[in-house]
Amino acid sequence: MKKILITGGAGFIGSHLVRLFVNKYTDYQIYNLDKLTYAGNLENLSDVEKKSNYHFVKGDIVDAGFINELFAEQRFDAVIHLAAESHVDRSITNPMEFIFTNVVGTVNLLNAAKETWKDDFTGKLFYHVSTDEVYGTLGDNGSFKETTPYSPHSPYSASKASSDHFVRAYHDTYGLPTLISNCSNNYGPNQFPEKLIPLFINNIKHKKKLPVYGKGINVRDWLYVEDHAAAIDTIFHNAKPGQTYNIGGNNEWKNIDLIKKLIEIVDRKLGRPAGESLELITYVTDRAGHDLRYAIDATKLKTELGWEPKVKFTEGFETTVEWYLANEKWLDNVTSGSYMDYYQKMYGNRL
Ligand code: NAD
Ligand code: TYD
Repeated sequence: MKKILITGGAGFIGSHLVRLFVNKYTDYQIYNLDKLTYAGNLENLSDVEKKSNYHFVKGDIVDAGFINELFAEQRFDAVIHLAAESHVDRSITNPMEFIFTNVVGTVNLLNAAKETWKDDFTGKLFYHVSTDEVYGTLGDNGSFKETTPYSPHSPYSASKASSDHFVRAYHDTYGLPTLISNCSNNYGPNQFPEKLIPLFINNIKHKKKLPVYGKGINVRDWLYVEDHAAAIDTIFHNAKPGQTYNIGGNNEWKNIDLIKKLIEIVDRKLGRPAGESLELITYVTDRAGHDLRYAIDATKLKTELGWEPKVKFTEGFETTVEWYLANEKWLDNVTSGSYMDYYQKMYGNRL
């Protein structure tokens, strides 16, 4: 496979995946298609943007005409699809955006891939990156398996579940070679500071309140973002089309315990007295439809393809805090919106 389209490559996980593929597979041409919403930031890829096997395309996956033209022109060999609206809270206030990008956008890509590859699907691949949130919520025990029935509760997870169903339907109906992976919560550098970990690091630093939803007892399974990128690499290159794999960190944390750990690390790194920022914890009204617990059973991925998370949480968490504290300018740029200046400077007169 030579020409690969990665969608959403300017976002959090996408940028780590693009970096991995551009550096590791120098014989591949990597095309990063991104609309550059508030969550897409090309500064995330400044270290690879000059490489000859990297190409950026600005565009919207909701625009079927544009997508069809791009596929007809470039004739990609494979697609790794990450572009999405990804924040649950935003999906509660504006569900339509999630239906357009996550559902319509995905089906537009499926149609374009099917049309481009219709003469021969051999060696082609449409890999859809999804979330464990499609499975719904767990009680105190158990974990999500690939066979767990879908039961999404937020507009975000409902839109991702819908897109997963379309991907499977295109495999079963048209024989399109597809793969799906459903991953747990990611953490690491370059995550937009609306998600729990970067938001709270930034707030602790600026002595702002930490809004803990409900009682803080919800549980998430945290995976370092580079481990997710490595899992996608493994699945992309080794899995049989039609398969689904769960990806997880085997690393469950109750929100309030994670937040206290975060406070401990940030206070230490900023030279503050231990526990000083605990007073910032503020319990607020719970998120509507808040899933209690996510946990992943990644046995299939381990036994069939040999993938396991490499980064220990203690190390990954320290590295992540250090990154946000050291990259104040990145945080300021993404929160103020001035990261778009970077796009203008780098690409404004070229596209
Ligand atoms: P993100 O919000 O950081 O990035 C999304 C990217 O998609 C951005 O660069 C944005 O500009 C782009 N995008 C949005 N709408 C677009 C459109 N209409 N056309 C083209 N580009 C568009 O998201 P992320 O956290 O990196 O998540 C990436 C993928 O992984 C998503 O599909 C998400 O559902 C999935 N996922 C995320 C997590 C997580 O913990 N963050 C866990 C499991 C799965
Ligand atoms: P988030 O990072 O939004 O990821 P997701 O909802 O996709 O799991 O939230 C992680 C957990 O943290 C989730 O249980 C909601 C909770 N949370 C808060 O308590 N306060 C906050 O301000 C945010 C953003 C999240």
